[in-house]
Amino acid sequence: MYRIGIIEKIHESGIELLKNSKNFEHEIIEDVSQDNLIKVLPKFDGVTLRVAKLNSVILKNCKKLQVISRHGVGYDNVDLKYLKENNIKLLITATANAVSVAEHVMYMLLSLSKGINKYDQMVRSGEFRKAANKIETFELLNKEILILGFGRIGKILIKRCIGFEMNVNVYDPFVNKKTIEDCGGKKVEDLNLALSTADFLSIHMPLNKNTKNLIDLNKLKSMKNNIIIINTARGGIINEKDLDYALNNKIIFGAGLDVFEKEPIEMVNPLIKNKKVLLSPHSATFTKECTMRMGIQTVQNLIDFFENKLKKNMLVKL
Ligand SMILES: NC(=O)c1ccc[n+]([C@@H]2O[C@H](COP(=O)([O-])OP(=O)(O)OC[C@H]3O[C@@H](n4cnc5c(N)ncnc54)[C@H](O)[C@@H]3O)[C@@H](O)[C@H]2O)c1
Repeated sequence: MYRIGIIEKIHESGIELLKNSKNFEHEIIEDVSQDNLIKVLPKFDGVTLRVAKLNSVILKNCKKLQVISRHGVGYDNVDLKYLKENNIKLLITATANAVSVAEHVMYMLLSLSKGINKYDQMVRSGEFRKAANKIETFELLNKEILILGFGRIGKILIKRCIGFEMNVNVYDPFVNKKTIEDCGGKKVEDLNLALSTADFLSIHMPLNKNTKNLIDLNKLKSMKNNIIIINTARGGIINEKDLDYALNNKIIFGAGLDVFEKEPIEMVNPLIKNKKVLLSPHSATFTKECTMRMGIQTVQNLIDFFENKLKKNMLVKL
């Protein structure tokens, strides 16, 4: 019998998989404070993980732990070095969430280009007739979008952009020209040049030491004034202070953020009051369909791992 810790609730359909299998018993852990995790995790053979942090202080107490199954695809909340040194496997829900994230990008892109929030406010405050040409709005047709990172989400997003007849540039040093061209994009090698011509920028790379603060004030200043930047990847890839400055000083037009340097975002963060940024609470994957798929895939990966049936694309190479 394997003991599974569900760290933070997941969709009931995922839990059902465990209930229906005689080889597993599970416990849901709601209190994700370090003290509680140190106390409760040592008894588990495997755990599922949403956004709670698993650092080495917690993990060193988990002598039985063989596997962590992430509810998602990012894993910057886990101490990878510790996992590697201690042969703990890390799984991701590789095929569960790309569509929802790509749709969220399109929603932000359209919402900001069309001034939806501002128009909504004007209608509600009786300014229906005054609204004509008061707000700067844009079409997507023939506009240049730069996609940074061409993995699962980038590849789904490009189809949506092409559907709107946008011209798509892709910057991803690890993906070859043919793959990008077969999807209808153009591979760019020079990031600075690509940033200087883009009308839209969408970020889809991991947060790591190479990508932290990748978009800083210097890069923002090199962009067109009408650019709209969307970040649904990870907070910290764009420097938030620099972004706020760039928005306030008309260096760029607008931004949509689903992810933040610190989550939840602090209410004193100036972006909270900045009307040029559209915010969402790391909710790109909260659609009904995606939540269910992720819950099921998180648990199925664990079951497959213990039954030696794990699909290769679900395992992170550490
Ligand atoms: N907002 C959300 O809820 C949400 C949901 C899913 C994923 N994400 C985040 O979205 C990002 C992308 O997810 P994915 O599933 O497409 O990942 P992926 O691993 O499939 O793709 C990431 C791509 O980034 C590229 N890359 C790595 N370093 C790069 C660099 N320095 N410059 C350019 N490209 C680089 C890789 O080659 C890869 O093709 C991740 O950061 C992930 O954590 C967020």
